[in-house]
Amino acid sequence: MKWNVIRIAAVAACTLGSAAASAQSVEVMHWWTSGGEGAAIGVLKKDLESRGIQWIDMAVSGGGGEAAMTALRARAVAGNPPTSAQFLGMAVVDWANEDFLSDLTEVATKENWDRSIPPALQRFAKFKGKYVAVPVNIHRPHWLWMNARIFNDNGLRPPTTWDEFNATADKLKAKGILPLAMGGQPFQEATAWESVVLGLGGPDFYRKAVIEADPASMKSATMLKVFDQMRKLRGYVDRNFAGRDWNLATSMVIKGDAAMQLMGDWVKGELIAAKGTPGKEVLCIVAPGTQGSFLFNTDFFAMFKVGGNRRAMQLTMASAVMNPTFQETFNLAKGSIPARSDVPMDKFDACGKQSAADLKAATAANHVYGSLAHGHAQPAAMQRAYLDVITKHFNSDMSSKDAAEALAKAVVAAR
Ligand code: GAL
Repeated sequence: MKWNVIRIAAVAACTLGSAAASAQSVEVMHWWTSGGEGAAIGVLKKDLESRGIQWIDMAVSGGGGEAAMTALRARAVAGNPPTSAQFLGMAVVDWANEDFLSDLTEVATKENWDRSIPPALQRFAKFKGKYVAVPVNIHRPHWLWMNARIFNDNGLRPPTTWDEFNATADKLKAKGILPLAMGGQPFQEATAWESVVLGLGGPDFYRKAVIEADPASMKSATMLKVFDQMRKLRGYVDRNFAGRDWNLATSMVIKGDAAMQLMGDWVKGELIAAKGTPGKEVLCIVAPGTQGSFLFNTDFFAMFKVGGNRRAMQLTMASAVMNPTFQETFNLAKGSIPARSDVPMDKFDACGKQSAADLKAATAANHVYGSLAHGHAQPAAMQRAYLDVITKHFNSDMSSKDAAEALAKAVVAAR
């Protein structure tokens, strides 16, 4: 029964796609289907409709965007791409390389994007010197979220090292409180893993082990400690964690069914959508040991070469996404901070303000790196090699030594 429904929707979308394409419309592919994500994409939809552009939604659920990228590729190779799609940084580079993306230089020059887009983002937004994508935000994947009531009632302080984290989790467990809410999906396990790599090894080790994919660092004593810590984390999640979506894990922390979650600041979008206040009902600190560094992932919108009057719609959409007021409103709902460096932060909550301040300090210290789990550290094939080993280790009794060796082999094979 369910398959048929999907099939009908797909056919309808295809036929609708070309008919509606002639009207003042944009069809946008994205994976923002959780409460907070939906509220944020709603800001863009409303903004475009206020400019007379109809929004055709191609939402593909699945946090992290893996399913969305698969659906997008099927449409693109069939010669029927949407007008625009959400991309992570490395994916922009891959799709630009395959000549799918259209040139936005016209609007980028007119609006002087170079002045307000940080160089770390221009590296992904530009292909051969030309803008092919527009950045909407800067997310930070390495946060620790805590239920404030559970922490206060048990006299607990936010853990700033992994040893403190483990001691806190052991205390919670002893009291029958679930320490860690998590969903068993590769991108979620990798989000925790990269926080542990950075938190235990520091920024130089992250650069070596993730950005440079240096096999020697995979076999190092530090990497063994990383997998030991991942094994500890496995002991702090519930037995029903497999396959759970990240936003369901977030609602466990909001409701007090679990004390903590390791996840990006899209968690804030869920809390805000649930009428909560980040830093109040749910506390935020950077993941243990990662103070002073900043891992980022950015959502970009890129435009397909669709021609016709949709070109004008694409340029209007790109300009709308880069609008400073839009970036403020969108990011207040999404949980991230603006991609533009010139948007005032005074309306943002304490976690948002801290993110912006930490980004500034980490930029000055040269400790800003792309997230592996969220497509800003390695191209797709190499990223896959990491995630396969991380998720295999987390969901088995694989030893840390075997995991480290498997990772060293995997990254060499993926080169
Ligand atoms: C990330 C994306 C975020 C967030 C998250 C969970 O990859 O950049 O915007 O939505 O996935 O779906």
